[in-house]
Amino acid sequence: MSHLTGKVAIVTGSSKGIGAGIAERLAADGARVVVNYSRSAETAAVVVRRIVVAGGEAIAVKADLSKPEQVAPLIDAAVKTFGCLDILVNNAGVYEADSLDTLTAETFDAHFHLNVRGLLLATQAAARVLRSGGVIVNISSGLAKSPYPMVHVYCATKGAVDTLTRSLGMELGPRGIRVVGIAPGFVATEGNAESAKGMTDFLVAKTALGRVGQPKDIAAAVAYAVSDDAAWVTGCTVDVAGGMVF
Ligand SMILES: NC(=O)c1ccc[n+]([C@@H]2O[C@H](COP(=O)([O-])OP(=O)(O)OC[C@H]3O[C@@H](n4cnc5c(N)ncnc54)[C@H](OP(=O)(O)O)[C@@H]3O)[C@@H](O)[C@H]2O)c1
Repeated sequence: MSHLTGKVAIVTGSSKGIGAGIAERLAADGARVVVNYSRSAETAAVVVRRIVVAGGEAIAVKADLSKPEQVAPLIDAAVKTFGCLDILVNNAGVYEADSLDTLTAETFDAHFHLNVRGLLLATQAAARVLRSGGVIVNISSGLAKSPYPMVHVYCATKGAVDTLTRSLGMELGPRGIRVVGIAPGFVATEGNAESAKGMTDFLVAKTALGRVGQPKDIAAAVAYAVSDDAAWVTGCTVDVAGGMVF
């Protein structure tokens, strides 16, 4: 029996990238998994198929988490299909380069509506059904603590995520629910394939372990965060970045 057997997990934004890696890892560890997506139905179906072929259980559920009215139905879908919810991984996020010249109210809203409001509303909806022993994992970024001036708004959203990890950990701790942040370094994904072109050498040079990250590196940290081995870990954010100095 795997250590997450009997548990139900939602991974937001898991049709590709880091989220797909997390969904597949939690399923391999025994959890029944909701693979959430907002646009990429086909790639979400591929993730579900990979999980099922590997002997796991998963469903794909469409919900655009930047839209408040679509958040609670995602949590409801997990409970309706699998009977309960034990783990929420708030992974869905958007990142665009900006500067004082180029940022706009619209790009600000697009980042904050998904990365912060979506995360908070998903946590609120999940907290209504999570029992003692439940875990919420917030995917942050090393850029929260060490921001770049070419991504002001994105960095600010992840700073807000780290603050929420701490305050939500305080609120939910008395109910036996843990909240853990994971702050990745640079991880090669579909979402940054274009923007990272030509930057790999620069990013590797900043990383003590001498390579960019892969989704499975972050998935392994999430697997720890949701396990009983992390039973005394809450309200904090852990760097998983290969020693990257941002
Ligand atoms: N990659 C990195 O180097 C890195 C480093 C630090 C932190 N992070 C964080 O890690 C997380 C994942 O990044 P990634 O690189 O794996 O991203 P990605 O490859 O762009 O994948 C993003 C995922 O989120 C989903 N998504 C996008 N908008 C959504 C919405 N409004 N509602 C629900 N789902 C939505 C996408 O599905 P659809 O296509 O269906 O919309 C996709 O499954 C983000 O929070 C990011 O900030 C990434």
